[in-house]
Order: sequence, then structure tokens, then C-alpha cells
Amino acid sequence: MDDLIQKAAADLAQAKMVSALTGAGASIESGIPPFRGKGGLWEKYDPMEVAHIDSFIQDPVKVWNLLIKDMKDIVDQAQPNDCHKGLARLEELGKLQTIITQNIDGLHQMAGNTDVIEFHGTFAWQRCMECNTHIETRRVDISEIPPHCQCGGILRPNAVFFGELIPQEALWRSRQVATDSDVMLVIGTSAVVQPAALMPVVAKESGATVIEINPESTVLTNDISDYLIKGPAGDTINRIMANLDALL
Ligand code: OAD
Repeated sequence: MDDLIQKAAADLAQAKMVSALTGAGASIESGIPPFRGKGGLWEKYDPMEVAHIDSFIQDPVKVWNLLIKDMKDIVDQAQPNDCHKGLARLEELGKLQTIITQNIDGLHQMAGNTDVIEFHGTFAWQRCMECNTHIETRRVDISEIPPHCQCGGILRPNAVFFGELIPQEALWRSRQVATDSDVMLVIGTSAVVQPAALMPVVAKESGATVIEINPESTVLTNDISDYLIKGPAGDTINRIMANLDALL
């Protein structure tokens, strides 16, 4: 384990272009539950019922009440953890160029990272399904569910539901970043949702070293990752940073 921490620090020290792909596991230590596994949202809800665009269109009241209202409370209060802070420091040191995140909580930007591709959109904004006006989530009045825009249209998170396309710019840039990376850190994702899970594959095929940080092994571990550092994101990043400091 210590060997792998040192190896990761050495790989980062040598790399010219580093990217990170993050998933729900990166935000668990900020109090945001993951989707899969123990305590995951999909243990409680069927994603096709609460996170598919067809379900939202059919019954926005249900989806707002079951999922979005709680999510708003959790995301409103969440603060960056050691993983987010460590990645921000890595950017400051010139050792991380871009984060591709599947998370919609905005915590990487709050920690200070400046180039964050929000692969599944963002929960920081809601948009009107009629006139496309965007309203900051923290300013949305949820005394009435679903909340409405001034034009009368229903508001929805500016995030990607199942059954929707990934924003084209996010997809295009992520592929480019993956192709250009010397090192890709893959942090806290089960890597089962496509096309996000393809990005480490693209990076690997383009010659990058893929370093996974996760308490569990994933579908990437055997064939795609060069190595897995088994552990929680915050502590693992802290230890890598301590080793990296000694090398720079
Ligand atoms: P998942 O919930 O599928 O996976 C979370 C991962 O975090 C698992 O591999 C855990 O082992 C790992 N994990 C748990 N605790 C951790 C910790 N302390 N530190 C680091 N890792 C930890 O989340 P995602 O892979 O992000 O999409 O899910 C991908 C997509 O599926 C989401 O963006 C969302 C969801 O359905 C949409 O809603 C479109």
C-alpha cells in the first residue's frame, strides 16, 4: 500500500498532463450518499423510477418529492473534503490539468479547481422545461412542488437524467483530455455508467497510466487500471500529496 502511494506520487511528479475522473465516492466524505453499494441511493429507489427523464416528464411531483428535494438539502450543505482539497492543491502545483466529474455537486469548483468538466451536468442550476431559463438552485422556492419558472414552466435540475444525452461539449472535451493524459486518476467511481466509464479506457489506449483510488475493486481494476490504491479518497489523496511534496 505504502509502495503504491509512493509510486502514485512518482507518477504524478513525472507526468506532464494529469487528469482525474471522479465519481460519487469522491463526495461520500462530504456527506453525499453514493448511488450503488451499501447506503447507496439505488438501494432505496429504482433509478428508472426516479432518475429517468420519462419518469420526470410523467410525474415531476413524484421525482421532486422522492429525490430532488432531499438532494437539494444535502448538496446545499455539503463542503469539499480532503479529496476535493487535495485535487485543488494538485492543480495549484501544476500537477493536475482537468477534472472530469460525474458528480453534480459542484464541490471540485468550491475547493478551487478551475477546469472541471461536469459530465452529468450540474445540480447548482435548475432550468425551465418551457423557456429554458436557468435559475440557481439555492434561489429556487420549493414551497410548491414542483417549483415553477416565472413563465409557468416546470423547473428541472440542469443535470443529466437516465435516457438523456451527455452534453456534447462535455463528451467531446473529456475524450480529448483522456487522449492527452499521461496519468489519469480514477477516484470513487464504480465505472459502470457509460459513456463516462469509457474515459479511463480511452486514456489507457492512448498510453496513460491509470491510477484507481477506491476502497473496492471495480470493473476497471483488472484490465484497465495500472494499479488500485485501496482506500477512502480523502486519506489516500492526503498521503499521495505528502509523498509528492517530498519529490517536488
Ligand atoms: P457509484 O455509487 O456507482 O460508485 C461509488 C464508488 O465509490 C464505488 O466504487 C465505491 O466503492 C466507491 N467508494 C465508496 N466509498 C468511498 C470513499 N470513501 N472514497 C472513494 N471511493 C469510495 O457512483 P458513480 O460511479 O459516480 O449518473 O456513479 C456513476 C453514475 O451513476 C452517477 O453519475 C449517476 C449514477 O446513476 C446519473 O444519474 C446519470
